[in-house]
Amino acid sequence: MNYKTVSSVLFVCLGNICRSPTAEAVFRHRFESAGLPLVLDSAGTDAYHAGEQPDRRSAAAGRQRGYNFSGMRARRVTDEDFEQFDLILAADGSNMRDLKARCPAHLTYKLAMIVQSGEVPDPYYGGSDGFELVLDLLEQAADSWIARLAR
Ligand code: 4NP
Repeated sequence: MNYKTVSSVLFVCLGNICRSPTAEAVFRHRFESAGLPLVLDSAGTDAYHAGEQPDRRSAAAGRQRGYNFSGMRARRVTDEDFEQFDLILAADGSNMRDLKARCPAHLTYKLAMIVQSGEVPDPYYGGSDGFELVLDLLEQAADSWIARLAR
């Protein structure tokens, strides 16, 4: 796909309370610094945490690095998301399988991994190191995507 025409990106994880809201916050900050005015949002493949604010551990770790989580509420991926977003980025392989199972065949070209050659591991049941690793991976991924998406 031609990344230079992308104007909106949806980040997807399982619960939409840890990885994908953090991706939204990190990418928004870095894209703005790079002068890339893209529409960003995030969602979960499941609805367990729908309506909740980002996980307090994720938000605390992210705020320490200057990222903004205000106004975020978890939601599940919708059928409309596959039409509306130009690029849909999954945190891990399980998220990608779930997206592929739901995405209309003519739109699967929009699906990719946040980290192109790997995963952003689920930090939910682990210690604080996991949340720092998520941030490290997402900061690197944001810079890689800027290089691909920049006009
Ligand atoms: P996320 O993390 O997919 O990065 O938002 C998780 C949040 C909640 C659960 C699992 C992962 N959970 O099992 O409730």
